[in-house]
Amino acid sequence: MALTLPVHPDPLADRLHTSGLLAELAHGLGGPFHYLLPHRFDANLTAFRAALTDSGVDGRVYYAKKANKAGVFTERCAALGAGVDVASLGELSAALGHGVRGEDLVVTGPAKNTELLRVAAQQGALIAIDALGELDRVLTPRGHRPARVLLRVHPRSQPGSRFGLGEEDLDKAVRTCAEAGDRVRMEGFSFHLSGYEPQQRTDLAGDLVELCLKARALGLQADRISIGGGFAVDYVPAGPWQNFLDRQHPDDYHAGKAFTKSDFYPYHSPVSGAHALAAVLAARPAGRKESLAARLRQAGVMLLLEPGRALLDRAGSSVFTVQGIKDRDGYGVVTVDGTSLSLSEQWFNSEYLPDPLLLPARPRTAGPEPYRACVGGASCLDSDLLTWRKLAFPVQPHEGDLLVYPNTAGYQMDSNESPFHELPLPPKVVIDHPHDDTRPRWRLDR
Ligand SMILES: Cc1ncc(COP(=O)(O)O)c(C=O)c1O
Repeated sequence: MALTLPVHPDPLADRLHTSGLLAELAHGLGGPFHYLLPHRFDANLTAFRAALTDSGVDGRVYYAKKANKAGVFTERCAALGAGVDVASLGELSAALGHGVRGEDLVVTGPAKNTELLRVAAQQGALIAIDALGELDRVLTPRGHRPARVLLRVHPRSQPGSRFGLGEEDLDKAVRTCAEAGDRVRMEGFSFHLSGYEPQQRTDLAGDLVELCLKARALGLQADRISIGGGFAVDYVPAGPWQNFLDRQHPDDYHAGKAFTKSDFYPYHSPVSGAHALAAVLAARPAGRKESLAARLRQAGVMLLLEPGRALLDRAGSSVFTVQGIKDRDGYGVVTVDGTSLSLSEQWFNSEYLPDPLLLPARPRTAGPEPYRACVGGASCLDSDLLTWRKLAFPVQPHEGDLLVYPNTAGYQMDSNESPFHELPLPPKVVIDHPHDDTRPRWRLDR
């Protein structure tokens, strides 16, 4: 029996998929494309803000721009007064160009180049300092606008992490800031953890609050902490996910490819998105009697967060056209008009698991059994597979059918895209107000 992983029901996406618009766009654009739903981004942002308000915590959401290159999400941040987390000069320029104010940016990433640090300081962006050398480079000459900094800590719970300042360097950095006087504005501390575990975030955030209090004793501002991103996205329901994890086997994949459970993103998460933030705030940091929310309030510390993937949950999907199909030892190999570069997970020795949806060009009657097929890209690489798994299609895909990979806005659609084979990069189509009764309207992302 084929293992299926359908995404959660999404009536709005269903309406869009049956509206005929996607086939028209595939025809008009002449290749694969991504569609984006900015109103979903808005709703996710509102939910994160509500989690802060509900717990009585003064906080600020910064969208981690690295998760998607589209302009529209940054435009939404500017319109809604949200911050943006940028990690390169390109991202910083794009955010400013879409109307986000410099002071609403946080600049993250390791060993930031001098140009990025200079522009960030000039624009009044908050800079997460990852190494002592970076701090030396942002100390401004007297009389200039002081750089606003957070000191990023190396997480003890993730000793293998290459990010952040270890204990000794952190100590030195705090002292450097205290001695630098008005040549730097030390606003607090930050971290970003791999994985999605809420308690680890609560514990480290609790430590950072204590660091703020100590830093204040040295005369530093230290009134905010950033807990980074890592709020899980719940792509598929619990039942199919558990069934998949229990049963998946090399026979389920093209060419007998083998994956272990730990190779996969946790596509089901009982606590995800803004609920994960609420859980982080409601939990007690190790060794403390009160919740993190209460501790932040008592200490007068503001909470910053940098969600990427979770703000993009259900805010975009990727559409390919079936270009060919062949039979291979009892299953099919579908080839689409794009490549797996538009589905980044495929490049991390992993697999993007939510089932793609087949939209037949013409109605066809389903057979007694599903048609099993993997999905390959239109490149000369044998390993260019959008899906190694032998999917269970209700009908055999035909040339001209569309294949919609759902929920790809967070890191999947464009992180790894390149014009390999001189194929054009898939354009992004913004769909505004698809919930109106009128036909969905679209425009190209700027
Ligand atoms: C510093 C920092 N902040 C935020 C994020 C966003 O993480 P996520 O998309 O998992 O929320 C990342 C991701 O790598 C990061 O490195």
